[in-house]
Amino acid sequence: METAGASSLLGKHVVLGVTGGIAAYKAVEVVSRLRKKGAHVHVIMTRGAQNFVTELTFREMSDEPVITDMWAKVTHYHVEHIALAKLADVVLVAPATANFLAKAACGMADDMLMTTLLATKAPIFVAPAMNTAMYENAMTQENLERLRAHGFHVVEPASGQLACGTSGAGRLPEPIELVAVLEQFFESKRDLVGRKVLVTAGGTHEPLDPVRYLGNRSTGKMGFAVAEAAAQRGADVVLVAGPVGLETPAGVRRVDVLTAQEMHDAVLAEYATADAVIKAAAVADYRPKERAGQKIKKKDGSLLLELVRNPDILKELGEKKQQQVLVGFAAETERVIEYAAGKLEKKNLDFIVANDVSRKDAGFSADTNCVTILGRDGTHTEHPLMSKRALADIILDRVAGALPKG
Ligand code: CTP
Repeated sequence: METAGASSLLGKHVVLGVTGGIAAYKAVEVVSRLRKKGAHVHVIMTRGAQNFVTELTFREMSDEPVITDMWAKVTHYHVEHIALAKLADVVLVAPATANFLAKAACGMADDMLMTTLLATKAPIFVAPAMNTAMYENAMTQENLERLRAHGFHVVEPASGQLACGTSGAGRLPEPIELVAVLEQFFESKRDLVGRKVLVTAGGTHEPLDPVRYLGNRSTGKMGFAVAEAAAQRGADVVLVAGPVGLETPAGVRRVDVLTAQEMHDAVLAEYATADAVIKAAAVADYRPKERAGQKIKKKDGSLLLELVRNPDILKELGEKKQQQVLVGFAAETERVIEYAAGKLEKKNLDFIVANDVSRKDAGFSADTNCVTILGRDGTHTEHPLMSKRALADIILDRVAGALPKG
């Protein structure tokens, strides 16, 4: 027997959006399970959903009014059509049809569910459920990617036998799993709620001509891990990412850039309102002086390239520092601590994460890292080899401790 008192969902207001797919019937069990955990469940049904399950079923299960029509006379929620958007601690759309995902990716507001999604500041989870071919269609995948980039949490569909007779990815996860996703979300440390965390990740590409560039081996894994961890801890995360092949972590707003100059501009545009900046990106210090308009053709003899300096983004942030907690990374191949301490001082940082990138298990493409964190206050902590995701939480523990209380 489950006890409500043990759950992180106790007392939470969950807005459950139900869209018109055959899996809508499973949403009934989601309501029941959420209620057993002590949550208040407010159901919004789209017109399509009403073809599969009746409003009455959800009303009985949730013991709350069910919203089916944006234009109906409002009797329970005081005044505005955004009342539920304000009340929500979390929004879950399950099942989320391909049509719903397409509308959400465009920011449409043509019914009560779409309006609520646009108006809410609560975290939004969507659980796609549809035929495999529709799920795998590039347009659906692009819509999901766009939703992720806007901070939506996408619950991956399960694979198996589908109602349409085919088999593959597209099945709505079991209600018990959907409830577990929300429960875990509320269980995680939430010490960065209300804080804006700006993260940079990946390397930069400095073009020589339309087909060539100078770059480095950064994969972005460390920065993406920090962005994911910060979002899970409740921060409003902006991830300025160089050209990397990684998926946007859930709950993160991503800004893609190519060059150091573009990264500079994107970071500075977000800096004034940031509470913390974690600069994990490997920024190119130099760029080719000339960028040829056409592909450079080979000639006899050697080719001499002239490089000019790129802005040192972190140094500029250090000079303009106000309330922000600033964290830099120092990727070194020798005299790691000495060089890192120099950068901490020169760039006016609060912390610097120093790592020896000549190690195989701590370099750019590894999933693990082994670092020393140096603090402005003279602290010097060594961290053994661990996953980049675990290290991300250690870095954020330091950031959270250094943020002004508020
Ligand atoms: N950094 C930056 N802008 C640059 C170069 C570096 O913002 N043009 C940031 C990196 O994101 C990192 C820190 O500064 O957080 C240190 O980067 P690193 O490449 O180790 O040091 P540099 O300052 O470039 O010094 P050097 O290359 O001489 O070691």
